[in-house]
Amino acid sequence: MGKIQLLPEEVINKIAAGEVVERPASIVKELIENSLDAGATEIIVELEKAGKALLRVTDNGEGMDKEDAHKALERHATSKIRSADDLFSIHTLGFRGEALASIAAVSQLSLTTQQEDKIEGYCIAAIGGQIVSKDSVAAEQGTIIEVKDLFFNTPARKKFLKSDAIELRHCVDVILRYALSNPLTGFRLRHDGEELLHAPSVGEVRERIASLFGAELARDCLPVVSEEAGICIKGYIAKPQQARKDKSKQMLFVNKRWVRNEYVTKAVADAYHSLLPVHQHPVFFLALELDPQAIDVNIHPQKTEVKIEQAEQVCQAVHRAVRDTLEKHNLIPTVDIASEELAFSARKNIEIVHQKEAHHQKQRKVTGVAKYVLEPTQQTVLQVKDARRAGSYGEEAAVPEKNKEELKLRLSLPVTPAESDAAAEEKKQNEMRQEPEKRSSPHGKLPPLKLLGQAHKTFFVAETHGGIVFIDQHVVQERVLYERFMEQFMNKAVAVQRLLQGEVLDVSPAESLLMQEKQEELEQLGFALEPFGKRSYVLKTIPTVFGKVQPKELLHDVLATLEEQQNSLEQAQEVIITRMACRASVKAGDEVSIPQMEKLLAELEQCVLPYTCPHGRAIIIKLPVEELEKKFKRR
Ligand SMILES: Nc1ncnc2c1ncn2[C@@H]1O[C@H](COP(=O)(O)OP(=O)(O)O)[C@@H](O)[C@H]1O
Ligand SMILES: [Mg+2]
Repeated sequence: MGKIQLLPEEVINKIAAGEVVERPASIVKELIENSLDAGATEIIVELEKAGKALLRVTDNGEGMDKEDAHKALERHATSKIRSADDLFSIHTLGFRGEALASIAAVSQLSLTTQQEDKIEGYCIAAIGGQIVSKDSVAAEQGTIIEVKDLFFNTPARKKFLKSDAIELRHCVDVILRYALSNPLTGFRLRHDGEELLHAPSVGEVRERIASLFGAELARDCLPVVSEEAGICIKGYIAKPQQARKDKSKQMLFVNKRWVRNEYVTKAVADAYHSLLPVHQHPVFFLALELDPQAIDVNIHPQKTEVKIEQAEQVCQAVHRAVRDTLEKHNLIPTVDIASEELAFSARKNIEIVHQKEAHHQKQRKVTGVAKYVLEPTQQTVLQVKDARRAGSYGEEAAVPEKNKEELKLRLSLPVTPAESDAAAEEKKQNEMRQEPEKRSSPHGKLPPLKLLGQAHKTFFVAETHGGIVFIDQHVVQERVLYERFMEQFMNKAVAVQRLLQGEVLDVSPAESLLMQEKQEELEQLGFALEPFGKRSYVLKTIPTVFGKVQPKELLHDVLATLEEQQNSLEQAQEVIITRMACRASVKAGDEVSIPQMEKLLAELEQCVLPYTCPHGRAIIIKLPVEELEKKFKRR
C-alpha cells in the first residue's frame, strides 16, 4: 500500500485555520470586517483575558437568515463573490469565505443573528467546528459572534500566544485601524469589563483622530486631498513635529482596507525629506481609492497586503500629494504646556486615549486668544524686503511684486484669532482649492512678526498673533542656504565664486586619489580644481552660496564626507550640502542685529519649507499667550 493518504476534514480545517487565525487580534479583524461588510453602524468588541478566554463582537448589521447562518460556518462559503472574475473587482472587505469556518475550527463559537424584518433570530453553537446546538432565539437586529477558549484543540498554537498585555495591544491596533477608516461607524472596546475605547460615529476623520489619539495630534494634522488619473488620495498627515520613533501611527488604507505597502509608505516618508530628524517617522492616515481591477488583495491569507498594478504611478501621486500639503501649510510648532502635561500623564496609562480628556482639551483650544492680535504697525517687520538692498547675497532672489502684495495683504488681515488651528487649517484648505495660483506660490508662509530682539545670542524673539515666537538663528540660515544651493544644484547651475588667487591645497595620497576620482562631482558642487605639482591642487572656484567659509576648510570637509559616504553618491551629496549649509550659517553665540534678523527672515520667507533645518530640527517655535496666561494664573 502507498504511503500517501488524504487527510481527514478536521485536520484540513485546522491547517487552514492556522493561516487565518494566528492570535485573538486576527479574529477581531475578521469579525469587524464581517460586521462592516454587513453595513453595521455600531460595533462592540468585548474581550476577556485579551480574547484568549472570550472574544465577542456584536454588530447592528443586516444579519443572516437561518440557512445562511449555517452556511456561514462552512469553509469557502461566502455571499461576497460568485466567480473567479469577481476576485478582480472586490468591493467588500471579506471574500474568501474562510474566516468563520477557520475560527470555529479552533474554538467554541456561537453565532446569534437576526434580520430586520424577521420576528425571531437564530443561534448556532459549534465546538471545534462541529455544530452542537441550533435554535431560534429572540435577538436584536444584527449579529453576535462569540468565541470562547481559543485554540483549546491546538495546544501548540495556544503556547505561542503572548502575554495578555501584548495580545490586547494587537487587538487595540486592529480596532484603531478600522475605526480610522470607518468614521461613520461607532466602535467600542471592553476588556475584562472595563471600557478601553469608545469612538462614537463622527462625520470627519479628524474627529476620529481626536477621539482615538488626542486633540493635539488632530490639531497638528493636515488634510490631504488629491485626485489624478483615477488615483484618489484622502486623509491626514501630521506636521513634522509629531513624528515618532516608531511607525505605529502610519496607516495606509487601500479601498478601505488597512494594508502594509512599503513602497507607498516610503513615498510618504520621502515627501517629508529634510523636515524630519533621522530615525523619526512621519505620522499619517491615508486612504487610497483605486480601481478594484488595478489591485490584487488576494496575495495574503490575512489580506493585509495588496499588489498595486501601477505602483510607481501611485507612489508618485502619493509623494506629490503629501509634499504639496506640507508646502502649503504653516508647520510652526507651538509650545503647549497644558497638553504636554496631559501627554505625560497619559503616557503613564496605556496608550489608549480617553475621549473625555481629548474632548476637554479640544474645548480649551477653541477658546481663542482674541485679545492678542498682532496689530500691523510700523514695527511689524516681516515685510519681505528686496533682498538686493538687504545685503551680501546680492545676485539672488528679488521678491516679485505680486508676492509683496500678497504679504502686505496678509499683514493687514490678521488671522481670526478665535478660530482653532484645525478650523483655520480647514479654511485655508478651502481657500486653496478656490485659488490655485495662490496655492502654487511658495511664499508667505511665515506669520507676521514683530522682532523684539536676540536672546542669549542664539534665538530671535518676536511677537506674533496670539503669541511669542522663538527662532533659532543658526537653523534659519541653514535652511535658507540649503534650499538656495539645492535649487542651483538640481538645475545644474551652481553659482561659483572665482578665487582671485587660487588656494593651494596639499593633500594626502588618499585624498589625491579621491580628488581625481570625484573631480566631476566636485565640479558640480562648485569646486574647480587643477593639479599643481605632485600632491597639490589649486582650488579655483567655490560655490557662492557658501562663500563665507574658508575655502580650504570647506573642501576638506567635502572630501571627508565623500570618503565617509562612499556607497551612495546621492546620499553623499545630500550630506555635503547639509554640512556646507551648516558651516556657512551664523552660529549660536554670534551677535545678530535687528536689520540682519530682518534680512535673514526675509530670506527664510522665500523658502519652500521654512520650518525646519535640513536635518529636521524646528526653526520657529510659538509660545501661545494662552499658555503664558495659564502660568501667570490669568485664566
Ligand atoms: N456579522 C455578520 N453579519 C452578517 N453576515 C455575516 C456576518 N459575518 C459573516 N456573515 C456572512 O457569512 C459569510 C461568511 O463569512 P466569512 O467566513 O467571514 O467569509 P467572507 O467574509 O470572506 O465572505 C459572509 O459572506 C456573510 O454573508
Ligand atoms: Mg469575512
